[in-house]
Amino acid sequence: MDKLILAIESSCDETAASVVKNGREALSNVISSQIDIHKKYGGVVPEIASRNHVLNICGVVSEALEAADKTFDDIDAIAVTYGPGLVGALLVGVSHAKALSAALSKPLIAVNHIHGHIAANYIAHKDLEPPFVCLVASGGHSHIVYVKDYTEFEILGRTRDDAAGEAFDKIARVLGLGYPGGPKIEKLAKEGNPKAVSFPQVKFEDNCFDFSFSGVKTAVINYIHKLEQKGEEYNKADIAASFQYAVTQALTAHTINAAKTKNTKKIVLAGGVSANTALRDSFDAAAKENNFDFYCPPLILCTDNAAMIGSAAFYKMQKGEFAGADLNAVANLKL
Ligand code: KG4
Ligand code: ZN
Repeated sequence: MDKLILAIESSCDETAASVVKNGREALSNVISSQIDIHKKYGGVVPEIASRNHVLNICGVVSEALEAADKTFDDIDAIAVTYGPGLVGALLVGVSHAKALSAALSKPLIAVNHIHGHIAANYIAHKDLEPPFVCLVASGGHSHIVYVKDYTEFEILGRTRDDAAGEAFDKIARVLGLGYPGGPKIEKLAKEGNPKAVSFPQVKFEDNCFDFSFSGVKTAVINYIHKLEQKGEEYNKADIAASFQYAVTQALTAHTINAAKTKNTKKIVLAGGVSANTALRDSFDAAAKENNFDFYCPPLILCTDNAAMIGSAAFYKMQKGEFAGADLNAVANLKL
């Protein structure tokens, strides 16, 4: 029998709801973004995000049911992101999901946001099955994950400081491009030369696949400051392209090297930064060179959405992993 999950996501600045069938098909995928509200502050303001989630969540959930042509009666379980993320923002989704679960007497499934990003690929690629190695690169996370099974993970590498998306956002701010930085850097980088400036790429000891992006960020800032002090002009497009090149090279090389240590020929991209065309192209090229199959979600499933949460929840449901009424938001939840 088909299983329908109503999923809710509110960990950052998107209020999202989706109806997902059997973990693989998004019957609806409603996303209410707050980007326009936060961009005047140069980043997400947590308190404002929480308040807007409260305003949006009922409408977004109704819209998701309507777009899927379903009612609450058709739904088998309610899923929600309970971390990691902004605690106040998460609490809005968690409280809403708990209330729905109690009022409708439907089971509740608690989903880790990072697990959700990985699962976006199950919706995009109906034939994709674990095991595979996945790079999850977003505003808050840069993890290389060995996905052993639908609900079993091993972290092969992680950032030791800034997340990749955070670095994109910070450099965009320095270049005066605004928020969110990733898409703005990507657009400007198209007009620049990625080899114009050689920004450093940190490598730790052998067989360590961890990242560090604070070094490249500082190098870009120092490069700009030095030229400004000398009163010299600098080419923003070249800087954006060179910065993007340094980051995407590190992400690609570490993921491929990590994947070579595991018994799989599949590499997968996930998270907001995987919307970046230069990163997708570099993964595609590296995969071909090293005989890996490469998977990544369409853009709409790269950034935050609830369809990915519904997919991850389906596999938890199959294992009987349900949450109780005592479910709480966990801001620093680990995978
Ligand atoms: O996954 P996501 O929507 O939210 C988090 O879980 O953090 O990721 C948002 C991040 C932001 O840092 C944004 O700048 C970055 O993803 N991003 C991009 C692109 N689109 C979004 N970074 C690089 N290139 C892009 N095209
Ligand atoms: Zn995310």
